[in-house]
Amino acid sequence: MAGKRGPKIIDGKKISAAIRAELKLEVEALKKKKIVPGLAVVLVGEDPASEIYVRNKRRTCAELGIASFSYDLPASTTERKLFNLIKKLNEDPKVHGILVQSPLPRHIDEDKMLEHINPDKDVDGFHPTNVGRLLTGNEGFVSCTPAGCQELLLRSGYDPAGKHVVIVGRSNIVGKPAAALFVQKAAGANATVTVCHSRTRSLSAITKQADILIAAIGVPQFVKSRMVKEGVIVIDVGMNRIEDKTRKSGTRLVGDVDYDGVSKKARAITPVPGGVGPMTIVMLMKNTVKAARRLSGK
Ligand code: GUN
Repeated sequence: MAGKRGPKIIDGKKISAAIRAELKLEVEALKKKKIVPGLAVVLVGEDPASEIYVRNKRRTCAELGIASFSYDLPASTTERKLFNLIKKLNEDPKVHGILVQSPLPRHIDEDKMLEHINPDKDVDGFHPTNVGRLLTGNEGFVSCTPAGCQELLLRSGYDPAGKHVVIVGRSNIVGKPAAALFVQKAAGANATVTVCHSRTRSLSAITKQADILIAAIGVPQFVKSRMVKEGVIVIDVGMNRIEDKTRKSGTRLVGDVDYDGVSKKARAITPVPGGVGPMTIVMLMKNTVKAARRLSGK
């Protein structure tokens, strides 16, 4: 229960910093064995948000001693040219991870693009082979945001085993892989999972049953206090910019959860920003180090 002192704040900044420190040591140990983990980051076009994400990914690589290979291609790049680059990166032994930032320009088929990436270098975990491996419980790459949600829970002492995890949202990058992850017969999972979405009837009746609620619907402050039970643990994946005239910028970032209301009932909750956000990049780095180890047989 929230209690008089309020809920525990699950601090994504602090937890991601701890994982970064662990990864830095792991990268140093690999370097002693002459292996330098390498991540190729491909950006097609000039989407301003994508440019910021890509810059952050490259900067985090540098911070951890991971080599990053940058490919900034014009929006006019043809599918064939992009697929040829991916082929080259698949064959490059210095590249252990390949990330093609989405969204791609409309003339490039994203699903087709993903199929060109070697699944063993697919550190985003978006290739159908890795999606399948996740579903069947086989070794592969788990997409970074669901993996980050799991780390936040485990490192805060909330094991999902036997708990009812209710996920609101069914996207391919969060909702669906999160469901596959938490339902596994595996450490850090073993949950009873329900996935809700825009067509779900009596949504509140289901979200109220959640021991752990994962909000990933992309609607600002969608989950209200009346939709959750006392003592719920809330992981808010949302990242929405809304108008706020009290701010100098005129806007502020909010999640998919009405934080002020829900935090009064929650046992623990992630803030936005500073919750899930900082975890996604760090899980990408973790996947890159894992790819380097696997591809080099270490
Ligand atoms: N665009 C927004 N998020 C992501 C992500 O996690 N990976 C890639 N490749 N593109 C994105």
